[in-house]
Amino acid sequence: MRELRLGVNIDHVATLRQARGTTYPDVMQAASCAFEAGAEGLTVHLREDRRHIQDADVVALCKWARCPINLEIAVTDEMLAIATRLKPAHSCLVPEKRQELTTEGGLDVIANRERIGQACGVLAAAGIRASLFVDPDVEQLDAIIATGAPAIEIHTGAYADAQLEAEREVQLARIQAMAKAADEAGLEVHGGHGLHLDNVAAIARIPQIQELNIGHSIVAQAIFVGLGEAVSAMRDAMQGARREAAD
Ligand code: PXP
Repeated sequence: MRELRLGVNIDHVATLRQARGTTYPDVMQAASCAFEAGAEGLTVHLREDRRHIQDADVVALCKWARCPINLEIAVTDEMLAIATRLKPAHSCLVPEKRQELTTEGGLDVIANRERIGQACGVLAAAGIRASLFVDPDVEQLDAIIATGAPAIEIHTGAYADAQLEAEREVQLARIQAMAKAADEAGLEVHGGHGLHLDNVAAIARIPQIQELNIGHSIVAQAIFVGLGEAVSAMRDAMQGARREAAD
């Protein structure tokens, strides 16, 4: 059975802080709390409009170094310069539109293969392991491989948003096919977006997936049970499903 890591996305701790321009809730306190509750990594998305995580948060997190930091960035010169200066362990390249509520789709690697490949090269030269946030679309695989990225993160949003069981099954099958094909091509496979306690099990059972990055539902659940408890409940749900599938 392969390991399955939980990366906790703490962007929405900063969303709450930025909503009022206060100094609380403290992103570093959230980082410690999630780590102590079992998070194997922490993810933050430094958006171009700085709507939640700020540059100073990323500086503090990268200095903190108690667990690997995954910095999500758009493929821009500004973001690549920040990543190579701060050197998080990992960096997930994502598409970004200012108007969107959250990252609404994966990268179009076929159309932007050269630019994404260059970005992967810049990150690799700085010792940062890149991943590409992509839709579960096996047609993109050749282009993904050509970029030299060592890992992908499969966008699970369409699966999470599916209203009907039949549609959810279709989306799950697409994720399963993508995970298998990417793994066979030698890529490390991650997943994330829209996952919560009631939908994570089917994704955690996919044997090739080695990391899930989950944020919004954990921070939402923390309102009722506290962040540490919300992180451990998610870990338990993921690990329980993975063990069941391996038996
Ligand atoms: N992975 C990526 C690349 C994302 O952009 C996000 C959202 O910022 C997540 C994972 C986490 O998604 P959610 O907050 O819905 O759990």
